[in-house]
Amino acid sequence: MKSKGLICAGGEATRLGELTRVANKHLLPVGQWPMIYYPLQLLQRAGITDVLVITGKGHAGQMIDLLGDGRLAPRGGGDPILELDLTYKVQTEPGGIAQVVGMSRDFVGDAPLVVVLGDNIFEFSQAQAIEEWSDQADRAQIFVKDVPDPENFGVVVYGDDGAVTDIVEKAGVVDTRYAEPPTSHAVVGLYCYPPDVFEVIATLEPSSRGELEITDVNRHYAVTGRLHAQEVEGWWEDAGKHWQHLAEIGRTIEETGANK
Ligand code: DAU
Repeated sequence: MKSKGLICAGGEATRLGELTRVANKHLLPVGQWPMIYYPLQLLQRAGITDVLVITGKGHAGQMIDLLGDGRLAPRGGGDPILELDLTYKVQTEPGGIAQVVGMSRDFVGDAPLVVVLGDNIFEFSQAQAIEEWSDQADRAQIFVKDVPDPENFGVVVYGDDGAVTDIVEKAGVVDTRYAEPPTSHAVVGLYCYPPDVFEVIATLEPSSRGELEITDVNRHYAVTGRLHAQEVEGWWEDAGKHWQHLAEIGRTIEETGANK
C-alpha cells in the first residue's frame, strides 16, 4: 500500500521570539521559500503525494491560503514547486508531536505513514531509505544525526549489538533519568511508522512538559525490537531553534540545495 504523509506544523514556536508573535513559524522565510515548502517537497521527492498538514489554531487560514490544494506553481511561471494532494486539520492546543500523529488516524487508515516536522530541513530527501522501509513497513524507522548540541533533541542509546536500546528526550529537562544527554546522536524530525502506531499512541501518558512525546512512541518500537535507526544522508537542520539560524540555513540551501 502506498505510504501517506503527515506534516506537523502546530506548536507554539516561543523560541523564535518576536518573529512568531503573529506569523506562523512554518511560514517564515528560509532562503527563497517559506519554511514548510521544504518538508512538503521532501515527501514529494520520496514519492508520497497524499499528505495531511496539521497546524495550530489561528494559523490554519494562512497555511491554506499559501498551500491551497497542494499544487503550487511558482510566481512568474516554470515547473510546479509542489504537486501534492493536501488535506488539513487543526490542533487546538500544542499537546505534543505524538498527539499530532494520533490525529492523522482516519486519514492514514491502514497505510504506512511518513511524518516530517514542519521545521526540519534536509540536504537530501532520504528517498531511498524511505522507499526501502516502505517495501515492508512492519517496523518503524527513525533518522539520526551526530550533533554538537544533543541537549536540544531526543538522542538514541545503542546496545553492544548496535541496536537502539533507549531514546532520551532533552536529557535533564524532559527526561530526568539522565542529567546529560547519554550520546550526541540526535533523532531528527522524520519518522516512518507501521499502521499499529495509533495503538502505541493510545497507551501514552503526557511527559513532564505535558506533551505526548514522539520519543515515547519511538522507544516503544526500540524496546520491542521493531526500530531501525538510519543515518541521515547530508546535512539536517531544525529551523525552529533560533532566529539567527533562519538566515544561516537559507545560505546553506543557496550553496548546496535542499531535498536533492
Ligand atoms: O527537530 C528534532 C526534534 O524535534 C527531536 O530531536 C525531538 O525528539 C522532538 O521532540 C522534537 O523536538 P523539538 O523541541 O524541536 O520540538 P518542537 O516543539 O520544536 O516541535 C517540532 C515541530 O513539531 C514544530 O515544527 C511544530 C510541531 N509540533 C510540535 C508540538 C509540540 C506540533 O505540530 N504540535 C505540537 O504540539
